[in-house]
Amino acid sequence: MRYQLAPLYCRPWTLNGISARLIESHYENNYGGALNRLNAITEEIEQLDPGNTSGQSLARLKRDEIVALNSTLLHELYFASLGGDGRVLPDALASAVAKDFGSVDRWRQEFVGIANGLAGGSGWVLLTYVPRDGRLINQIASEHSQSIAGGVPILALDMYEHAYHLEFGANAGAYIAAFMRNIDWSAVKARYDDAIKVAPPRPLEQKEFGDVPSISVEEVREMLKSGKPVQIIDARPKHYTTKAQDIMEGAVWRDPERLDDWIGTLSKTEPVVTFCVYGFHIGCQTASTLRNAGFDARYMAGGHYAWKAIKGPVKLFE
Ligand SMILES: [Fe+2]
Repeated sequence: MRYQLAPLYCRPWTLNGISARLIESHYENNYGGALNRLNAITEEIEQLDPGNTSGQSLARLKRDEIVALNSTLLHELYFASLGGDGRVLPDALASAVAKDFGSVDRWRQEFVGIANGLAGGSGWVLLTYVPRDGRLINQIASEHSQSIAGGVPILALDMYEHAYHLEFGANAGAYIAAFMRNIDWSAVKARYDDAIKVAPPRPLEQKEFGDVPSISVEEVREMLKSGKPVQIIDARPKHYTTKAQDIMEGAVWRDPERLDDWIGTLSKTEPVVTFCVYGFHIGCQTASTLRNAGFDARYMAGGHYAWKAIKGPVKLFE
């Protein structure tokens, strides 16, 4: 594969307080340099024989590759972040920013604050959309390589000294202010619109229990905290519990094989939460059977281990 150079996205002569000379040098030397390195590394990787190359050499090349690849991607985004007047965010973007940061002002303070924190050092400040969480987040990308997995950066501020030294010297603060004055918010909004179309990672699907409602461990924790009455049934199989050492606090163990023996002890007026070891079958089946018998039952997604993973309290299983 040969990576192609992207033309300069912003029009340097329109920028306010950032000179064409600075952009030209940045584009030619740093963006162009990263692209050339990326192509050289890619060629090297393509030409080597992975079966006869040491793991160390492969790892070094892959590290170099991610640095060069992210540097090209982030520089393209940086040049595409400039060219506006930096003032007003389009409405939909302003609401999204306000939802995730409290307000646009608060976002701006955080973004600028992070950039100031990198002054004299290096790294990127990115505004990134995270599809899994459906939210925007500010992040630092050091060494061109710390990107949030699955995140889509929509605004990039280059805090490597090469981005400002030529013109601003050590005055990173003036450079950051100039960057903020030149953000092209309509372009950022267009990228935001594209980013929110990215589907979140696919959740666990259990088609056979599609009609049995689940409850998350966090919701169960909130239920217990609020003191709402709830009947929590640990329905881990008997063969499993013989070696189990702990049980969720607030839960009682009931043998899922002998549901008929204990179903009569449950109250129909209080909700029931059932769970098994990992939340796949037995907890779901138990909830399903209880629902068919008229109980307000749900299974706890993720089961015993999900409860432990959120550090939910457990006690000795006897
Ligand atoms: Fe740069």
